[in-house]
Amino acid sequence: MTVQVIASAPGKVTLFGEHAIVYGEPAIVTAISRRLYVKTALRSDKNLKISAMDLKIPGIVLTFISDTGELTLETDYGRVVSAVSYIKKAVELTANYVGEMKGANIEVRSTMPVGAGLGTSAAVAVATVASYAYALGYELSQREIAKLGHRTELEVQGAASPMDTSIATYGGTLYIKPRTGEPIIEHLKLKNEYPIVIGYVERKSTTKELVAKVKRLKRKREEIISTIIRLIGKVTEEAKKALLKGNVVEVGELMNINHGLLDALGVSTKELNDLVYAARQAGALGSKLTGAGGGGCMIALAPGRIAEVSTAISIIGGAPMDTQISAKGVTVEIQK
Ligand code: PMV
Repeated sequence: MTVQVIASAPGKVTLFGEHAIVYGEPAIVTAISRRLYVKTALRSDKNLKISAMDLKIPGIVLTFISDTGELTLETDYGRVVSAVSYIKKAVELTANYVGEMKGANIEVRSTMPVGAGLGTSAAVAVATVASYAYALGYELSQREIAKLGHRTELEVQGAASPMDTSIATYGGTLYIKPRTGEPIIEHLKLKNEYPIVIGYVERKSTTKELVAKVKRLKRKREEIISTIIRLIGKVTEEAKKALLKGNVVEVGELMNINHGLLDALGVSTKELNDLVYAARQAGALGSKLTGAGGGGCMIALAPGRIAEVSTAISIIGGAPMDTQISAKGVTVEIQK
């Protein structure tokens, strides 16, 4: 019987401090209970067969061409779909790391949309490393998985902060404050449950464009924009205290303030604002855009009001998903 190894890793959302973190202010990111699953079954040949219908990859066969860990694409699809690059690179790096390579059937399933700013690429990288290594008989530590996951993102994207792969590996909720050298990273032990609804609308601008937009505005109106950025930092510090105390009402209020400040920076859109206000009207304690903005995701803190808030979001054209914050990191299970 073929042994199948399933590793799963969580997605993430930024709760507080996006954009301001680019200028040295703190941010709070959390793993969410939406997860991505990578199933590995070893093959007797050296082929790597990847299928990920949830990521719109219909089934692709890759072949190890040499014993150096290099893989080439053997497909009729022509274009390498980007998620395949993460899977391919994660397998390559893991094979090199453990010093052993075998062909495998790899199947990906996801309970969150790709490219929506929920950290799916990091989740793919981390879960592939854990799943493939385990199938080969190596139980890597979280530190090793996080490192290989980060290297995967670095090599595929050219640049990547270790944040997304860290949260996908360790889970939980992290407070991050940049400083020269290594950033300060604290694991926050939350005192309460924080049920949230994530609303998604089509994204119109990239993270890079939005970061550049804030930079231009800051250059033009240095004093005003610097003040807003510092205020976002203060909001994040207050939010950290509220999260640790378990004060859900205060967390919601601070989310609303954070959203207003992000809107003032010019990174929200009418569609995102509509979702943010509809969620509040339907009883959310707080709501804000999450990530870079320009469309993409918003979050609403909605204890006891998940159904109402989800309905309000879908009525105005957003795609709602409910989830919990501070979920567990990468996990591995075996199916016989
Ligand atoms: O696009 P996302 O979800 O990865 O969020 C980007 C967050 C920013 O603060 C806008 C940029 C950054 O590098 O921190």
